[in-house]
Amino acid sequence: MNNPRALIAPSILSADFGRLAAQVQEAEDAGADWIHVDVMDGRFVPNLTIGPGVTAAVRQATSLPVDVHLMIVEPERLIPAFAGAGAHRITVHQETCPHLHRVVEGIREAGASPGVAINPSTPVETLREVAGMVDLILVMTVNPGFGGQRFIESSVEKLLRLGAALDAWGVRDRPLIQVDGGIDVRTAPRVVEAGAQVLVAGSALYGADDGLASAMDRLQSAASASRRVLA
Ligand code: DX5
Ligand code: ZN
Repeated sequence: MNNPRALIAPSILSADFGRLAAQVQEAEDAGADWIHVDVMDGRFVPNLTIGPGVTAAVRQATSLPVDVHLMIVEPERLIPAFAGAGAHRITVHQETCPHLHRVVEGIREAGASPGVAINPSTPVETLREVAGMVDLILVMTVNPGFGGQRFIESSVEKLLRLGAALDAWGVRDRPLIQVDGGIDVRTAPRVVEAGAQVLVAGSALYGADDGLASAMDRLQSAASASRRVLA
């Protein structure tokens, strides 16, 4: 298989919020592909993070695509605000959307690229009807809510099942497959091997003792160490 290299999206959840613009710029200088923005509402997930205002500040600080991950109930209420803040990509959780089809259409109408995320306990089969409508599927590799959690091992098999399901469903416009949670030099080659194309990483990058640039180099090399990329 001749796949392009995996994209890397640093999650600013683990950045120093007091120097957010500089931390975003550091990620861009280190070769990041997207900037991942984790929005949490204290309801769908226990944690409370950032909103459209800070997202707009991130957008101002970088020329990279801004990838907004909405871990919030009733995301449709805030999609126009995040699109207005300059989000290029908006991903909602399947678990938060009884009217997922409408929400996905709403993201596109708002001018952003739609994605759908599933929690570790949510089966890939729940994506069957929207798989051909979205530009990205995010397979959560931890339970969402916090950075720095341990990678859930069964995610590797789930990624393989997602790839097989997309084939079986005959999805022609294949969405990108993204993973988020516990991605580091150890897990990156394994998820890429299993079909992940976009790797979100927070603590492995912003928490590295030797700085973001070295951590990015390490993660990029680890992601390329997959047979899928080298074959
Ligand atoms: C988790 C968030 C992630 C988080 C990843 O709920 O969606 O984006 O920042 O952090 P790490 O890479 O530290 O697991
Ligand atoms: Zn995220």
